[in-house]
Amino acid sequence: MSLAPLLDAAPAIPLHALAAIAAFVLGIVQFAAPKGTLPHRTLGWIWVLLMVAVALSSFWIHTIRLVGPFSPIHLLSIFTLIMVPLAVWRAHTHRVADHRRIMIMTFTGALVIAGLFTLVPGRIMHAVAFGP
Ligand code: HEM
Repeated sequence: MSLAPLLDAAPAIPLHALAAIAAFVLGIVQFAAPKGTLPHRTLGWIWVLLMVAVALSSFWIHTIRLVGPFSPIHLLSIFTLIMVPLAVWRAHTHRVADHRRIMIMTFTGALVIAGLFTLVPGRIMHAVAFGP
């Protein structure tokens, strides 16, 4: 394993990937820890900022150009920018079951599934994890 392929890439890419990895770790902490507490709210806002950074930074990444400069994965970024504020709004309005459902869906779809897809051969995280 080597971080060199990530750190050698254009700045948006390490920013994007490191924010995504931090959001993945923080997300696991959030799911395991007690809900509704001050730490849950504080870490939750940090997670929201990380996810916004992941999604926004992706619009400066164009390694898979399938639709003009964009790839279908950019739809996931738009989805994330809609679902994360919606999940926060559901918590704010005490619709806890909806908040929980949207957060689980976003974490699974955006971080677990998208994270696994970054490991396919030819992508930077594959080179990070398994070498060139
Ligand atoms: C653990 C999670 C993630 C990791 C490690 C990761 C890492 C990366 C890396 C290294 C790239 C650069 C291109 C490549 O070699 O693939 C990339 C591209 C991209 N990522 Fe992520 N990412 C993660 C999650 C996400 C999430 C949550 C989103 C959306 C909200 C996202 C959206 C994108 C998009 C749209 C691209 C650009 C694809 C293109 O080149 O056209 N990624 N990601």
